[in-house]
Amino acid sequence: MKKRLLTISFCLSLGVPAAWATDLPQAQTTEREMVVTANPLATAAGAKILKNGGTAADAMIAVQTMLSLVEPQSSGLGGGAFIVYYDAETGTTTTIDARETAPAAVDEALFLNEEGNSISFLDAWQSGLSVGVPGVPRMMEYMHTQYGRLPWQRLFVPAITQAQKGFSLTQRTSEQVAGLLARNASCEDRLFFRDPTAFNYFVDSETCEAKPAGTHIKNKDYAETLKRLARDGADTFYTGAIAQDIVSAVQNDPNIPGSMSLTDLADYQVIERPPVCILYRGNNVCGMGPPSSGGLAVGQIMGVLENFDLAGKNPLDEEVVHLFTQAMRIAFADRNKYVGDSDFITVPVEGMLDKQYLETRAALIGENDLGVVDPGTPPGVFDPSAPGMNEPGAGTSHVSIVDRFGNALSMTTTIESSFGNGVMVAGRGFLLNNQLTDFNFQPTSSTGELIANRVQPGKRPRSSMAPTIVLDLDGQVSLVTGSPGGSRIIGYTAKTVMNVFDFGLDPQEAINVPHYQNTNSGSSTSATVLEAPIPGVTLDYDVAALESNLEEGRGHAVGVTTLNSGLSLIQVTPSGLVGGADMRRDGAIGGR
Ligand code: DON
Repeated sequence: MKKRLLTISFCLSLGVPAAWATDLPQAQTTEREMVVTANPLATAAGAKILKNGGTAADAMIAVQTMLSLVEPQSSGLGGGAFIVYYDAETGTTTTIDARETAPAAVDEALFLNEEGNSISFLDAWQSGLSVGVPGVPRMMEYMHTQYGRLPWQRLFVPAITQAQKGFSLTQRTSEQVAGLLARNASCEDRLFFRDPTAFNYFVDSETCEAKPAGTHIKNKDYAETLKRLARDGADTFYTGAIAQDIVSAVQNDPNIPGSMSLTDLADYQVIERPPVCILYRGNNVCGMGPPSSGGLAVGQIMGVLENFDLAGKNPLDEEVVHLFTQAMRIAFADRNKYVGDSDFITVPVEGMLDKQYLETRAALIGENDLGVVDPGTPPGVFDPSAPGMNEPGAGTSHVSIVDRFGNALSMTTTIESSFGNGVMVAGRGFLLNNQLTDFNFQPTSSTGELIANRVQPGKRPRSSMAPTIVLDLDGQVSLVTGSPGGSRIIGYTAKTVMNVFDFGLDPQEAINVPHYQNTNSGSSTSATVLEAPIPGVTLDYDVAALESNLEEGRGHAVGVTTLNSGLSLIQVTPSGLVGGADMRRDGAIGGR
């Protein structure tokens, strides 16, 4: 009851119609354990493992194997992931880099034609060129070895059972298939779903239309793949028959073949790395460092905002939107220049989060929009480099878990674009990623500087994924969060941290606030983006008034659009775990 009153009073203070406010999703509370994912079946699989005494790492494996089946457009065995993990036994926080890796045979001309120009993004996306060596199966094994309690085989049971008995295709999946089919010249002349296995799985071959929502789908090939993984471990994926099928799918791509080899697969390794952390309002915000830009960019936003007093304001105040979008501009300026795979280039990790450096960056912010912000010069050593781009997509999912032992897991998992590169490995039931499109296609800038995020063999493309765990000053977990959304992940995650720690919103209220973003682009029409409110999902607000105040009062160029975050949040409180799930996707909270 208390929570509901809080929600209503917050909405009324914004002048929001009460009907919308009361219809909004509400936070859920559990006593011992919680899992929040972007799909109810994945949440149920994780909750079952937690109930059976599994750890957050165990539950993640059940969730990930289920997501690969029921949300196949977003993540799976053929993709990669980043995890921030808090281990209650040792009180330590670590991060796991299971990012897809460029094959050994590629070079910096991977996405260039003979004239040295970039090939079209569509050709890179829908081809074998963009497939990185998948990290998810090795990651699952690594997490189980380090942090698991239940037998490995048991964690695969929910997804194997579901794949055999079938599930109902979601509206989201069906709509995304339809969206991609509509981009083809004709059904015969197909780039999207050019692969016959993926075509037959997702499309009605008679009508060439997406299978409708509610279609009962079985995936026996996937069930067999999972049985092998359960029986033989991750080696069965990286060597032997499954590896051969992956290589064959990549090297025989009907559009453009890629070079991935059996050796690339056999050589794949998960890398454990230290988290990157920054203090924000007395909380230690910890995230994923390079090759993701997520932790550093979220950290820079928090570090810039720390210089402003937001007490007593609310998240849709014009001043808050202004400050947040300016902090985003500043963070993206540095992120684009300095961040790439730190095993290949020197990234100024500490310098980018240096308190004094961020004070000087915050001092740039005035009453009006800054326009495109140039990168700063953080203290420390770094490689010369140059700005790069990154597009939002739909091929990613976020999972937050806290178990009964106090372990916490924040994982963002991805195949990059919706349905990855569009190829389902024949006879194996999972899709391949197109993660290498996260590299910059050109190795040098127009002035000849080397770009930090250029393609190199064995390198991992820069990511924006920002799985985050916030610790209090006693080192105890207070918040677990993250989101999909391409480069917009950074803003979604940082704003959520602000909503909780500056405005005292509960996890669901924090998700329900409409988003605002600025990725420091040069666009003259929509550098600052405001989210169009969605009835029953986000708070209503006077978006037109905010738009004109920002434009006329502060010189922003504003666009209003749909923003597809997929946040999942768990807050650890003295009275239990409080969860929020993003209904912009099919978010679901489970646990007891
Ligand atoms: O690693 C990255 O930043 C992107 N490949 C993530 C893509 C993504 O979030 C698409 N989203 N929904």
